[in-house]
Amino acid sequence: MSRIAAVRKEFAASSDVAAARVLSMFAPKGGVGRTTIAFNLAVALGQLGQKTVLIDGSLQFGDLRSFLKVPNDAPSILDLPTDRIAESDLSDVLWRDPSGIDILLAPPRIEMAEMVTARDVDKILSLLRRVYQTIVIDMSAIISDVNLAFLDASDTIIEIVTYDSTTIHNTIAMADTFRSIGYPASKVRYLVNRADNPGGIEPDDLHRALGRIPEHRVVSGGELVVRSNNDGVPFVLADPAAPISLDIARVAAELIGAAQVPVGAGRR
Ligand SMILES: Nc1ncnc2c1ncn2[C@@H]1O[C@H](COP(=O)(O)OP(=O)(O)O)[C@@H](O)[C@H]1O
Ligand SMILES: [Mg+2]
Repeated sequence: MSRIAAVRKEFAASSDVAAARVLSMFAPKGGVGRTTIAFNLAVALGQLGQKTVLIDGSLQFGDLRSFLKVPNDAPSILDLPTDRIAESDLSDVLWRDPSGIDILLAPPRIEMAEMVTARDVDKILSLLRRVYQTIVIDMSAIISDVNLAFLDASDTIIEIVTYDSTTIHNTIAMADTFRSIGYPASKVRYLVNRADNPGGIEPDDLHRALGRIPEHRVVSGGELVVRSNNDGVPFVLADPAAPISLDIARVAAELIGAAQVPVGAGRR
């Protein structure tokens, strides 16, 4: 028994896999800020010294492609071999953004999204876990096989909520589904976006509806966000002192400081 325990301990200490952290930016509704926050959070994590890769998991529309204005022929997730992928394949496929992070782009055309399978997602994530410390996934709003593969592999699902009755309704429905899938409540962390714009909804009512106090909050960034998004530049670099940039930096620090991810956490 002690030999087995020692081997397990050695494995845990030597394995990068255990150290990698997969964070998915998810919401059961579009337009709540997933892509904006995923991009800026990934850059903020990079600034904290984390070797970070951002995956454009919005496979049909490739939100990050339009954000970053990458050429249409830039390689995508589809250019990774599906049978035996190796670390050496990554350098040809990842988009190296001037902001300092690596990005795995979505396919260039809507219909090509179908070519990515849940199995591909598993393989790609287990490879990226060996190479990166933090993996951020920008997700689409649907629950599909591929999205479940992303969510299953996530250590933490950062679910974005806004003060909007449809979003809140869908978030509650989603919590129910996550429960029936068997995700522990601790796998999800809520992030209230545009937290300074309650639009007539009392924060307490939101907390009651969610059944807990959201772990993170990010204020509205107004014009800075629109301008940065249009320029394809993260606002955390364009204006690091802006309140929204400080919020994102704090979320990044909270996520890194958040309880160490136990080996195998988040996987079914
Ligand atoms: N905190 C914020 N402050 C100001 N504008 C924001 C904020 N978060 C998101 N936006 C804006 O809302 C729109 C939708 O954001 P986006 O990141 O594309 O959402 P999603 O990926 O969830 O569909 C964008 O125009 C973006 O500029
Ligand atoms: Mg998006």
